[in-house]
Amino acid sequence: MSENNPFPNENNTGHFWDDTLRELSNDPPGWWTIGLHASWIWCLVYFFLYPSIPSLDLEGYSKGSLGWTAVSEYKADLAAIDEVRQKWEDKINDPKTSAAMILADDDLKNYTVRSAKVLFGDYCAACHGSGGSGNGAMSAAQSGYPVLADDDWLYGGTVEQIETTIYNGRKGIMPNYGARLSETEIADLAKHVVALSEGGEHAVGKELFINPTKGGCFACHGMDAKGMAALGSANLTDAVWRFEVSGGGDHRHASALHTIAHGVNSELIDPASRNAVMPAFGPLGKDLSAGSVKKLAVYVHQLGGGQ
Ligand code: HEC
Ligand code: HEC
Repeated sequence: MSENNPFPNENNTGHFWDDTLRELSNDPPGWWTIGLHASWIWCLVYFFLYPSIPSLDLEGYSKGSLGWTAVSEYKADLAAIDEVRQKWEDKINDPKTSAAMILADDDLKNYTVRSAKVLFGDYCAACHGSGGSGNGAMSAAQSGYPVLADDDWLYGGTVEQIETTIYNGRKGIMPNYGARLSETEIADLAKHVVALSEGGEHAVGKELFINPTKGGCFACHGMDAKGMAALGSANLTDAVWRFEVSGGGDHRHASALHTIAHGVNSELIDPASRNAVMPAFGPLGKDLSAGSVKKLAVYVHQLGGGQ
């Protein structure tokens, strides 16, 4: 630092380096001063309006004159969303609004499908898979859960039928023929069932199928073997196998053989019976609200197979 001031006419502090570099004592620029004052004023205003200064007890803090908190803002946002939702909910829960009416109203349907998706995940996906993709049978004893996204229905695919299925549950019953028919007769019936699924028939098996004192199968499956929605008796003429056991060989024959010999939901008289119970979600079962059941029916209907 130099002893002599080489710039005697300047407003400097007398601090020099290398005789050229020196510290001046001019006022800071105007814009900078304004910024400085604006920021402490802003701080005071902020302290006054918003919660800010913690107190010594660590629990309390200055509350601010606006009464704002992050939690109250969150609650207000939530209330605003609820208000929008409530209009839809009221419409859906109104007993005068049928599931078919929801399907006919695009906006209401979109809302219903979105909110039912959560319900489906909570109550249905464990059995039917996410998106109603079904869960196949892992063994003859475990019957699996039907796909809800296709157009193959046991109990009918209109939105009203689906709603009834969910509300009351379903339990289709088929007797165990192992107790009253011979092994050969059951094998012939199974051959007939496999032939039906391929568009053909098996003469001896068909005879048994329509003979009321033998199979009497037509009573539930119909003369055309296409099944009846009211009974949930499967359509035997399509290629969809409710109880198919996956695996090589003639597994369709093996599957039909098992179903015919041991029946469906007849475990009281035959422990090897197929078990196929759709639980009730109305007041007789899980007691979901009528509105929730309606939402679920709409959701299932639009998965792909609704009629
Ligand atoms: C404990 C397992 C289980 C749960 C949970 C379950 N289901 Fe089912 N569901 C079944 C079974 C098994 C069947 C087939 C019954 C049969 O074969 O007769 C079925 C059948 C159905 C059917 C009839 C399909 C047809 O082809 O007609 C619909 C619709 C259905 N379920 C919807 C639902 C919905 C919606 C939920 C959720 C609210 C649900 N299920 C929850 C087991 C379940
Ligand atoms: C009392 C009514 C009833 C009678 C009688 C009956 N069934 Fe069934 N059948 C059902 C029901 C209900 C189902 C189960 C559908 C379900 O829950 O998935 C079924 C299912 C089946 C299946 C399984 C279909 C599949 O997709 O896996 C076969 C095969 C079958 N029946 C064949 C027969 C034959 C053959 C006879 C006569 C020997 C017969 N049924 C008599 C009601 C009946």
